[in-house]
Order: sequence, then C-alpha cells, then structure tokens
Amino acid sequence: MPTKFFPLGGPVPGEDIVGRDDLLMSLEMRLSEGQSVMLASPRRTGKTSIAHEIIRRFKSKNYYTIFIDVFQPATKKELTTLLIDSCLENRTGIKKTTDTLKKGIKSLATSAKLTFRLKDLELDILLDLDREGKEEVLLSYALELPEKLGRLDNKKVLVVFDEFQDFQKFNGDNIFKTLRSHFQNHQYVTYLFLGSKKGTLENLFSHSKEAFFRFATIVPMPEIPEEKWIEYIQKKFSTKKIAAPETAVKEIIRFTGGHPQDTMAVCSEIYYILLESNIQMLSTDVVRIGFERAKSSLIFVFDNILDDIGKNVHTRKILKKIAIGDMVYQGEENPAEVKRAIDLLLTAGIIEKTARGKYEFYEPMFKEYLLDNTF
Ligand SMILES: Nc1ncnc2c1ncn2[C@@H]1O[C@H](COP(=O)(O)OP(=O)(O)OP(=O)(O)O)[C@@H](O)[C@H]1O
Ligand SMILES: [Mg+2]
Repeated sequence: MPTKFFPLGGPVPGEDIVGRDDLLMSLEMRLSEGQSVMLASPRRTGKTSIAHEIIRRFKSKNYYTIFIDVFQPATKKELTTLLIDSCLENRTGIKKTTDTLKKGIKSLATSAKLTFRLKDLELDILLDLDREGKEEVLLSYALELPEKLGRLDNKKVLVVFDEFQDFQKFNGDNIFKTLRSHFQNHQYVTYLFLGSKKGTLENLFSHSKEAFFRFATIVPMPEIPEEKWIEYIQKKFSTKKIAAPETAVKEIIRFTGGHPQDTMAVCSEIYYILLESNIQMLSTDVVRIGFERAKSSLIFVFDNILDDIGKNVHTRKILKKIAIGDMVYQGEENPAEVKRAIDLLLTAGIIEKTARGKYEFYEPMFKEYLLDNTF
C-alpha cells in the first residue's frame, strides 16, 4: 500500500480514490445482486484500488471475501495454496492457514483450535498440498472451496480475480474451460474479474466460442472527470496549507490527460518541489518542473511498455507516426502490416481510435516519452 502523500505505485486508500464513486456504486449494486462482472483497463489506471475498495465494502456487508492476484503465483501449486488460504482466512483469521496447519499440528493447542474451525472440511487434503501428482485434484478442491464455505456457513461470497488473463500461464486456453465449469454451478459466489489485457479479456467474455462467454457483465472503466481531479488536488494541497489555483491544477491535467497514475506522479513531484523550496502556492512554472521530474521518474515504466510491445520495426514505426500526429495509412508501409501493428497497440491498451484512421495515445505522458527519445 503506497504511503506517499499523493499515493503512488499500488492500490490507494479509499479516501484517495478519485472519480470512481459512480463506478463503485454500480459494481456494488451488480455484485450484490449476484451478477458477476468483468472490468478491464490498461496498466496503472486503478483496477486494484477498485478491487480493494470493493473487498472492503463487501467485508462490511458480512460477505466472505477472497482476493487473488493471478499474476502472483508461478505454479499451479502456488495458485492452489493461495486460493485455499484466502478462502480459509475468512474462517480462521489467519493469512496462511495451510502453513500454520502444517506447523501448528505440532502444537496441540493451535492444532485443536484450527481443527475445530475447519471441522467440516477435509483436512487431509490440505496437508496433501506438497504431494506430487495431486495438482489437478487439489486445484479442483480449491476452486470449489468458496462455494463450499458459503454453503456450510450460509454466507454470501465474493471472489475477486485481479489480472485474470494471467490464468493463461497455467495451462493455455484450457484452464478457462476448467474455471468456467466450476464457477457456473456456484450459487453462493459472485465473481469480479479484473485485468489489464483488455483485448484478451473482452474476447474471452464476449466471443461466443470462448469459455467465459456471457458469464459476466462487462463494465467499462470510465475516465476520471477533470473536475474530480481538480477538487481532489485542491483539497489535498489545502490540508498542507498550499494554495492551488484552478489554472495551475488544470495545467497538471493537461499534461497527464487525467491518466490516474501519471496525474498522481506529477502531483507528488510538485508537492516535493514545494516542500523543498518552502513555497505555499502552486504555479504553472512549478507544474512544468513537476511534470519534467515525473517524466524522468516514469522512464523505467515507459521502457517496459516498449519492451512489451517488442522490437517489431513496423509496430515501432506506427507508434512514432501516431506520436508525431501523422496519418498511419499514408506512407510506403504495407497496409496489412500497419493494421497488424495497430491491432497490437489497441489490444495492449496503448492507443485508442478517435476517428477513422485516427488514433490517440491513452497515456499522453507516454507519447511525450516517445517524442523525447529515439528508439
Ligand atoms: N481512482 C484513482 N484515484 C487516484 N489515483 C489513482 C486512481 N486509480 C489509480 N490511481 C493511481 O494509480 C496507481 C496505480 O493504481 P492501481 O494499482 O490501483 O492500478 P492498477 O490498474 O491495478 O495498476 P497495475 O496495472 O499496475 O496493476 C495508484 O498508486 C495511484 O497513484
Ligand atoms: Mg493492479
């Protein structure tokens, strides 16, 4: 959890979530009705912040809640353990129940208490986690556990999968069929799926041949309205007795396009500049310096985005063309290559289509980075 004054680089606390009231309300309403939801949006736009807030809200409604970041586990065994632990935490209050169980079995007191809390579950299977050749059985058990707990304890259950598309790493496309075959029979569980590979996820949930077709409502991630940013930034600075005139704040949004993490990054740099120079007033000059510093701090992130796209010359040429503002289909490139490059950039959530043959960067600061650098 980020601890900076302007939280940066991870899920933000509820009070720092800007401009998501309507989205959160809509998610809460649908999920409460038992309607599973899929929400996909590019990197660093606030998915995990939303996931954590939804978990907080449903915990306070007395739901059992399970949060899995699918990016984390590297193997099926790790995934299974993570799932089982997250499920059991609702009953035991212990983060790593399976570990505690294995170790605690030595201490009679812990063992007795835990055994009591888990009395109606097959404990042997939990102790089997390290056994070779049991992977599929254990994963099945883990995937059924939310429903089983819900039924046993008569509780509603919310399961959130963050970076859901990353299930692919376990077993290609087949894993999604397995997941669906479990999830579709669940009565007590509602699912929230989040992920950054928008194209992949939208295909998985909306294509009739794909495993998750019509399993969840697809909810779009809206842009954060400018006035919400202005309100938040002014209020935040005012808690430090810093005046933030609207013209200067608007300049921040103009630089970042309101991109969630970039806007926070610029605000954060501005805040440190003001602290260092003991100034209590935001000006457009300070905003410009803050923007330049934020841009340098984001170089590593932007380098990674470029690496992800790959070294394909066509894609990079198209990227540069869009950054400069040239028409993509004008030039000597083969139209099929251009189309392939554009599809890749759209799927990766880097560009958006604004009109026929016209594209814009989703993240204006990434465009600035491209214009600053030769690659
Ligand atoms: N609604 C928001 N209000 C304010 N800041 C936000 C918001 N959403 C995201 N941010 C900023 O973006 C950063 C990343 O947020 P978060 O981790 O929730 O996004 P994400 O989409 O899950 O990112 P990733 O793709 O890296 O997993 C936060 O630390 C914060 O600086
Ligand atoms: Mg995230």
